[in-house]
Order: sequence, then C-alpha cells, then structure tokens
Amino acid sequence: MGIKLNKIENVFALQSKNNTYAFGVDDMGLIRHLYWGSKIEDVEEFEMPKLFEVSTNDPVFEITKEEFPVYGSLRYKEHCLKATFNDVCREVVYKYVGYEVKDNELIIKLEDKHYDFNIDLHYILHEEYDLIERFVTVKNNTNDVIKIEKIHSGQFHIPHEDLIFSNVHGHWGAEQQKFNQKVSYGKIVIENRRGISTHNHNPYFILSTNATETTGEVYFGALRLSGNFSGVIEQTQYGGTLAQLGINSHDFLLNLKPNEEFTTPSIIAGYSNSGFETMSNNLHNFAKDNILRKGLRPVLYNSWEATEFKVNCNEQIKLAEKAKEIGAELFVVDDGWFGQRDSINNGLGDWYVNSEKFPEGLNPLIDKVKSMDMLFGIWIEPEMVNPASQLYKDHPDWIYHFDTRESDTSRGQYVLDVTKKEVKDFIYNMIDDLLTNYDIDYIKWDANRPISQTNVEKDLWYKHIMTIYDIVKTLKVKHPNVLFEACASGGGRIDYGILGIFDDFWTSDNTDAYDRLFIQESYSYIYPIKAMRAWVTDCPNFLSQRIIPMKFRYHSAMMGTLGIGCNILKFNDDDVQLSKELISEYKDIRHIVQEGDFYRLENKSKNRYNTYQYIKDDEGLVFVFLPQSEIGHRGVNIKLRHLEKNSKYLLKIKDQEISKTGEYFMNCGIDVRLSGDYDSMIIKFNKIK
Ligand code: DGJ
Repeated sequence: MGIKLNKIENVFALQSKNNTYAFGVDDMGLIRHLYWGSKIEDVEEFEMPKLFEVSTNDPVFEITKEEFPVYGSLRYKEHCLKATFNDVCREVVYKYVGYEVKDNELIIKLEDKHYDFNIDLHYILHEEYDLIERFVTVKNNTNDVIKIEKIHSGQFHIPHEDLIFSNVHGHWGAEQQKFNQKVSYGKIVIENRRGISTHNHNPYFILSTNATETTGEVYFGALRLSGNFSGVIEQTQYGGTLAQLGINSHDFLLNLKPNEEFTTPSIIAGYSNSGFETMSNNLHNFAKDNILRKGLRPVLYNSWEATEFKVNCNEQIKLAEKAKEIGAELFVVDDGWFGQRDSINNGLGDWYVNSEKFPEGLNPLIDKVKSMDMLFGIWIEPEMVNPASQLYKDHPDWIYHFDTRESDTSRGQYVLDVTKKEVKDFIYNMIDDLLTNYDIDYIKWDANRPISQTNVEKDLWYKHIMTIYDIVKTLKVKHPNVLFEACASGGGRIDYGILGIFDDFWTSDNTDAYDRLFIQESYSYIYPIKAMRAWVTDCPNFLSQRIIPMKFRYHSAMMGTLGIGCNILKFNDDDVQLSKELISEYKDIRHIVQEGDFYRLENKSKNRYNTYQYIKDDEGLVFVFLPQSEIGHRGVNIKLRHLEKNSKYLLKIKDQEISKTGEYFMNCGIDVRLSGDYDSMIIKFNKIK
C-alpha cells in the first residue's frame, strides 16, 4: 500500500487496500493516465505506451489520456484548465518539473514552458477507504494578472465504453431523484449555475458497468463544492470514457494576480469491483471517520410545519414541553422569530427578536427548554435580505446588483453580496452575537433562493460559497459545540463541500414518508446516513396530500437522524404514546443507524418492498417497508449482508426469535410478510456467538 514509484521514477501508483490508480510522465513531459482498477502490486509492471498519431487529424494530444489536460496545442478535447496571459497568449504549455511525496500526498509539479506559472496536481491517498482525493493548485509568479477562464479539479479515465452514468435530478420538494443514463458518443454534462448547488443535479459521477449492489465495476467521484459546479462525461473517439468535475466555467473568470495562488475544490474518487454497496460504504466510512463531527446526533423537534411564521413565545414553550414529553432532545425554533417576519416578504436582515412574539426576548423560551434538559436551536437565513427590511433601507448597495439594472427578488428577497468585507462582518457578528448572548446549541442555516445579478467580478459565484464556509469555520472556532444544519430551501446544499463545515443536511422539504424512502435511498449512494436529517410530519402531507400511518412515518424518518416536525399540540393520546415508544426505540438503535454500515438490500417479491440493513459491531437492523400491497399477501425474502459466516445471530421479528448462522441468514435469508398499504417493520438482530 502507499504511494509507489517505479525505479526510473516516471510512473506513480497510488496503492490503496484493494485498488491501484497509476499514471506517469512520458518523454514529451505529458502526465498520462495509465490505470484505475483492482490492485496491481508491482509498479514496475506499468509501461508508458509510445504514442502514435492515427492521422494528421488525430494528433497525439487528442489520443493521450491526460490527468490534467490544459487548453492549448492540438487539443480539442475537454480540458481542465484554460488561461489567458497578459500578452493575450491563450494557451498553456506545461512541462513536468518533479514530484514531492508528503505522507499520504503526492504532488506532481508542472510549469508553463514560457510563463512563470505553476500547476501542482495533488493526489491524497486514503488507503483504508480505497479512495483518492484530487485537487490542483495554480500559482502566478509573473508580474501580470493571469485570467483563468476554466479550472476543473481533475480528469479521470475509465477503461470502458457503454457505461451507465448515475446521478440525481429534481427540484425543490423533489430532490435526489436518481437516474441512470447510458453513456454513448457525445457528452453528458451535469451542472449548477444558481449558486445554491443541489436542487437539480449533484456534484458527483457514478459510472458503472453491469453493476448491481454487490457485483460489477463502479467508478465514482464526488466534488467538495457547494457552489456552481460542472461535470462532464464523454465516451471518447479513441476508446474509453473520461469524467471531469470542478468549478463551473459558466460566467466564471478568475483574475489570478501576481504571486497569487488558487486551489480548486477536491474530488474524492474511488473504484469498486463489487458494485454500488462498496462505493457507498467506502464514502460513508471516510465521511464518518474524517469529515463528520463525532458523537450521536440528538432527536430534534422543529416548529416549522406546525407554526410556520406564526411563532410566539407561549406556543413555542407549549411545543417544547410536548416535544420533551415525547422524547425530543433538541428544540429548534424555525423561521419567524425575528424582525417584522410575518411572511416571506419582511424580516430577513433584521436579526433582532420580534418583541410582539417574544415580549421578554428569547430567554423565557430558552430557559424553559434548558430547564427540561433539552438543547436549543434556532433558524437563520443570513445570506438574504427582504427589500422591506431596515437592513436593506440602510444598505441597499449590499445586495448583488448591476448599477443599471433592477435586481430580481425571489421568495421576496435579495441575496447579500457576502464577499464584501462589511457584509461578511455583519453576518459573522450577527451570528456570533446570537451564540454569545443566548444559550444556543444548534443553528439551522437556510438559503431559500438562487443567486443572481452577481456584480462585475465573475468569480463571485465561487467566492460566495467560500465566504459562507469561512464564516461558519470561524464561528466554530469560537463556538465549538454548536451544530450547524445546512438547509437551502430543502436539500439545496447536499455535497461534500459543505459537509464537515456544517454537520447535518436538511434532506428535502418533501417530508412525505413514502417519497422520502426514495429521496433517502438516492442520497445514501454517496452521502453518510448520520448527516441525513429526516422528520416525521403531519398528515395529510402538505405537499403530497398523502395520509400515511404514523408508524410508517416514524420508520421512514428513523432511517436517518430523526426529527419531528408535527404540530404535536394536536396529538391525541395514541399519537403521544406511539411517538414516545418509537422515539425511545430510535434512541436505543441510533448508534447503529447513525454510525453503522448501511446496505440497500435487494429483495424478491411480487410486492414492491423497500429493504435496508444497518450493522454496527455485533448489532444490526433491517428496515422493511411495504408502501403499497399490490399482490395480496405476498411476502418478501430478504437476504442479509455482511454477517460473519460461522457466527450465530439472534434475530427478532415481532415476537418471534430466530437463531441461525450468518451463513444461513445471508444465503437462505428471512421471510417477512407485511400487509396492506404503508406497513413497515424494524427487525433487530445481534451476534450471539
Ligand atoms: C425552507 C426550509 O427548507 C424549511 O424547512 C423552513 O425552514 C423554511 N425554509 C422556512 O422559511
């Protein structure tokens, strides 16, 4: 394992637990991709094939599989970097100048042949997780500005054609709709141009060939960026498929000043020869161990669906008391507590406590929450301002705008130019004051509209999100125990850029328990379960109008980090009793849900069941859902995964206890029969010897 070089030091191999990623430097100084797949131990086996021109119309630059193709020379293919120098030369011509290995990081050093311009290709090897992380740093050592028109974080080469590309599509209330698309000639482009990244596509690629959950080859990469991204997949004219991810070059221009350096967001990438499950597990484990904050996430109550903007102290106290009674551990006041916030049209920007709603301030509510031994959380939307607010009246120039145009409102609000120092300071100070003056444990950070009219500088799309990251990172230094939830009109900011800086994702405003099964399943391909906030809400659901039994609603939300968003003041005794039981059950199993390994179980039935498994150490769970009974009483056979073959397990289905070997449960499986519509069950098992 580790970073290996051949004897003549022109081939580099990143050796992880099961895989190898290899590339090298050829005699023209090009950084050429060689291999990505199952382990090849001996780095000396790799050779740098001689390049030859197919014809004068197929120059070597086109045929070569480059790690980081730049725009220039006889290259017409997708490039990762396009730069214009001061004298208007519009191509980069690089030479290889050496490498550096620092612990688990390999840096390939390139320099432009004429201009004093450095390009460093970084590769970080995460051996145990079978992952590599790639990013690029460019440095301008000239005395003039270099205009960077495009900079993607890296190119990957997949040695197959006719692959299946998977990503998600969707919109507000319907994020994370998984799709699979056959890759053929031409390009597939996924992107975001809105500044808020993930309502539509998500910044990752999954490319697979004949893959199931447990078989087949899967190549994947996820970009650590919440802003405008783009991804390109292309089956090339010369065999194989390439994939790129990075900052979207749409409406982008970075003026790299003399002595300035720019580092791209990284891509976490990997390969699996055992299907999608290995991909998900490697990413989940990496995130759990290295990105996410440690510790179990509390059961949350959020007031949004219960009260919307009609927040007031007395009612929030009543909600908090009820939330405590059913077992919630964290009480979050959502939108509506500040300024003149009675609808979407006012209040944003005026972050003082509304004295009509909270005549004695927030403390009576916070004190009550704390006296019941609960955590307290609060909603903010700091990047935004309503035209009617005092903040806007005082600082109309703080929003993104063109002087000669009227800026658009969306949801009745403008976007603040957070890249202006005074605006950034205002946001930081506002949140710092909140956290300093009140005993707050949790911030739900919302962003309810896309960005537009982003001033003159074309790198603002990127700088906007970097500023948000920076504000939260700085706040966390001073307030290290506060958890931050990344919400953007539902699931508009679900990506590996924000994860780690923020702690929870709000997955979607679609809280319908049936729709959520699919949203959550798609989410699970790439992102860790622990960061997936899921609420139980009232029926009929505000979006789908569906009426779903409470147990199913809880079970669906218990698949992630449980929250309750019902108007619990309207609960009858049965609702209270069931909530108490299920929240208490969740507390017993949440270490398995949040910190265990997650598997999407394949199952066979004429009825369409959703089946999922979690395992942590010797304990496990199987979630079984039958949303709709289509064919009478047909049950389902579920084969468990990743048990120890020769160990004995005790499994409990309702009152029935079954004790069998891991081998039996994995091969023969368990038979479960649910009936009717919206039936569900959580099966628990543990290893007994
Ligand atoms: C959108 C969020 O996704 C909701 O949960 C809620 O916080 C509203 N915004 C509040 O305006």
